[in-house]
Amino acid sequence: MGDIHWWRTKFGEEEKALIGEAIDGEHISQGTVTRAFEKALEAYLGVDHVVATTSGSMAILMALMTLGVGPGDEVIVPNRTWIATAHAPLVLGAKVRLVDVQREVPILDASLLEAAITPRTRAILPVHLNGRSADMVTVNQVAARHGIPVVEDAAQALGSRNAAGLLGTQSSLGCFSLSVAKIIATGQGGFVVTRDTGLYQRLLALRTHGVTDVLHAQWTSLGFNFRFNDILASIGLAQLPRLEARIQHVRAIYRRYEPALEALPFLSLIPVDLEAGAVPIYIEVLVPRREELIAHLATRGIQTRPFYPDLDKAAYMENPGTFPRSEVFGSQGLFLPSGPDQPLESVDRVIEALRAFGALS
Ligand SMILES: Cc1ncc(COP(=O)(O)O)c(C=O)c1O
Repeated sequence: MGDIHWWRTKFGEEEKALIGEAIDGEHISQGTVTRAFEKALEAYLGVDHVVATTSGSMAILMALMTLGVGPGDEVIVPNRTWIATAHAPLVLGAKVRLVDVQREVPILDASLLEAAITPRTRAILPVHLNGRSADMVTVNQVAARHGIPVVEDAAQALGSRNAAGLLGTQSSLGCFSLSVAKIIATGQGGFVVTRDTGLYQRLLALRTHGVTDVLHAQWTSLGFNFRFNDILASIGLAQLPRLEARIQHVRAIYRRYEPALEALPFLSLIPVDLEAGAVPIYIEVLVPRREELIAHLATRGIQTRPFYPDLDKAAYMENPGTFPRSEVFGSQGLFLPSGPDQPLESVDRVIEALRAFGALS
C-alpha cells in the first residue's frame, strides 16, 4: 500500500501533447495559447474578460493596483484565509483591516463589515474559502452604500456557485489561483475576471508595464511584468475539459467522508453546502487533539495538513482586536486527504485509520 498524500492532481498525456504543440509552434511566452485559455475561462465563467497571470497572489495584487490601492488606504480582509489575500494590499503599502469569520464556517461574518469601514477603506476582499460563498448580497450592499469596490478572492472556488451563480463573478473583480492544490492547476498560475471593460483595459496594460503595443512601446502608465505563458496555458487548456468531472469527484469524496466523520466523536467536519452549489476541494475537520491525530495517521502513511494560522498571528499585520471565532479554526483545523484525483479507496483507508484512532482513545 502506497502513501496517501493530502492532495492529489494528475497531469497526463493531454498536457504533454498540448505543451508539445505549443513548443513546436514556438509559443513559449504569453501569446495565442494564453489567449485561448483566457477565452475558454471567459466562456465557462460567463464573463466578458479574463486576464491570466503568474499566480493567484499576482491576480489579487493586479486587481488592487487596478483599483489604485496604495499607501494610506485600508483593505478589509477576513481573518481566515491564505496569507496572499492580506499580503497583496500590504505590499502596495495599504493597511489590512481584519474581520472575524462566522462561527460554523471560516467565512467572513458580513454583519461585522459595516463597523470595519473607515473613510480610508478602498476595497473589500471577501474570500470564498473551500468553495463556500461569502454572503455576497450583504457584502455588495454594504460596499455599494459606501462606494467601495469589492474584489472576490475565489482562489479556492473555481466552479463553485451560490444562488446568484458562479463565485468570483459577482463583484468588480474576481481572482482565481491555478496552483497545484486547486481543482484546475497549471503548477503556478492565476487569473483576474471582470465584466468592466475599463478595468479590463487597465489590467491588460498593467500586466505589461503599462505598454499596450510592445513593438511600438510608449511609457504611459505604471505596470509590471505580470505576464502568463503559453506552456502553462497549455496545461490549463488540457485540464479545463476535466473540470466538470473533477467537481463531481470532489463532491463524491465529501459525500464519502461525511457520514463516516459524523460518527467519530473526536473530530467534526467543517461543513460545505453541496446543495447551495459549493465545491469542496478540501476536506476540513476540527480536531482538538490535532497533533496526536496527525502523528497517528502519519504512522499509517497518511499525510494531512494543519490549517494555516489566523492572519492576526502575523505580528507585522498590526491589527488590534480579537478574533475569537477564527481561533478554533486556526488551532484545530486539519485538511484530510482529498483532491480531484484522490481515489475513493484512499478515502476509505483514511476513514479506517480514523476509526482506529477513535478505538485507541
Ligand atoms: C484563498 C487564497 N487566496 C489566494 C491564494 C494565492 O494563490 P497562489 O498560490 O496561486 O498565489 C491562495 C492559494 O492557495 C488561496 O488559497
